[in-house]
Amino acid sequence: MKVEKKTTLTKNPFLPDPARIVRVYPLTQDVKFFQVRLVDINKALAFQYHPGQFAMISILGAGEAPFSISSTPSRPGLLEFCIRKTGTITGAIFNLKENDLIGVRGPYGNGFPIEKMLGKDILIVMGGLGAAPLRSVLLYCLDNRDQFGRVILLHGAKCPAEMIFCQEFQDLKKREDLECYLTVDTDDTGQWEDNIGVVTTLFPKLKAINPEQTVSLVCGPPVMYKFVIQELLKLQIPKDQILMTLERRMKCGVGKCGHCAIDYIYTCLDGPVFTYWDVIHMRELI
Ligand SMILES: Cc1cc2nc3c(=O)[nH]c(=O)nc-3n(C[C@H](O)[C@H](O)[C@H](O)COP(=O)(O)OP(=O)(O)OC[C@H]3O[C@@H](n4cnc5c(N)ncnc54)[C@H](O)[C@@H]3O)c2cc1C
Ligand code: FES
Repeated sequence: MKVEKKTTLTKNPFLPDPARIVRVYPLTQDVKFFQVRLVDINKALAFQYHPGQFAMISILGAGEAPFSISSTPSRPGLLEFCIRKTGTITGAIFNLKENDLIGVRGPYGNGFPIEKMLGKDILIVMGGLGAAPLRSVLLYCLDNRDQFGRVILLHGAKCPAEMIFCQEFQDLKKREDLECYLTVDTDDTGQWEDNIGVVTTLFPKLKAINPEQTVSLVCGPPVMYKFVIQELLKLQIPKDQILMTLERRMKCGVGKCGHCAIDYIYTCLDGPVFTYWDVIHMRELI
């Protein structure tokens, strides 16, 4: 009897794909914007992801780290990242120029539950680098505008020079189908024409919210969550309709190393997007 030889060739999940930096420019003093394309054009076009997912970016000789995908899957072919220089890997990424090569693997994580958000009013609250993952979902909603109700953006930064995507969001304010409110904690330029105050000072400016109809997405520095959540609860938005994207130390991104584990969950697989309901049942998440 002839025995059929079976070979199971599965892709090594840790193998990055080479990607070329197409554009890079500073967003603030310590945050840069990177637009990259996978070198294999077929893979570039086939790279499917959800807003809120992240990718592992690697630099030869420096290492690998997770970064939120800031571009929207509704504009395939290019991936965008905002990267803050904090240490070894981000420092190495910061030195890269257009045409340089990096490694990309992913996408990873759960991302935002877009199908549950369809038809809902979307209230996005971002602070500082929280714009990185939330820009993806904002652009997705705007590119598929007829599939959502109201789209509301509240974005806060410490000062005008620290506002990530400041010009892009200023331009978006001109859209009639987006309710866009920008704020800075302090204006050191004397030129700022929007609100001054922390991001929660924007809530009184909102037109009436229908809480059952609203899904809120929040990302920002840890201190922001407590006060923003208080405002969202005052608006009576249900706890399972408040979505937060949270960061944890990660190594593998694929549920193998245990670095991101909290109790029985792996934040790289079960997150980084969690509902407020998840968070109150697992306090360690924030
Ligand atoms: C799901 C996810 C998405 C992320 N998205 C982005 C993004 O879009 N843009 C971005 O700039 N960064 C993002 N980060 C954080 C980024 O991965 C870290 O800044 C990076 O790993 C730091 O590597 P490093 O070698 O430069 O710093 P290191 O030399 O390792 O550390 C420098 C400093 O940064 C701190 N640090 C390192 N990693 C983290 C972390 N995960 N969270 C908080 N503090 C940390 C260290 O405690 C230390 O103080 C994300 C992290 C996760 C888990
Ligand atoms: S990062 Fe390795 S298990 Fe989550």
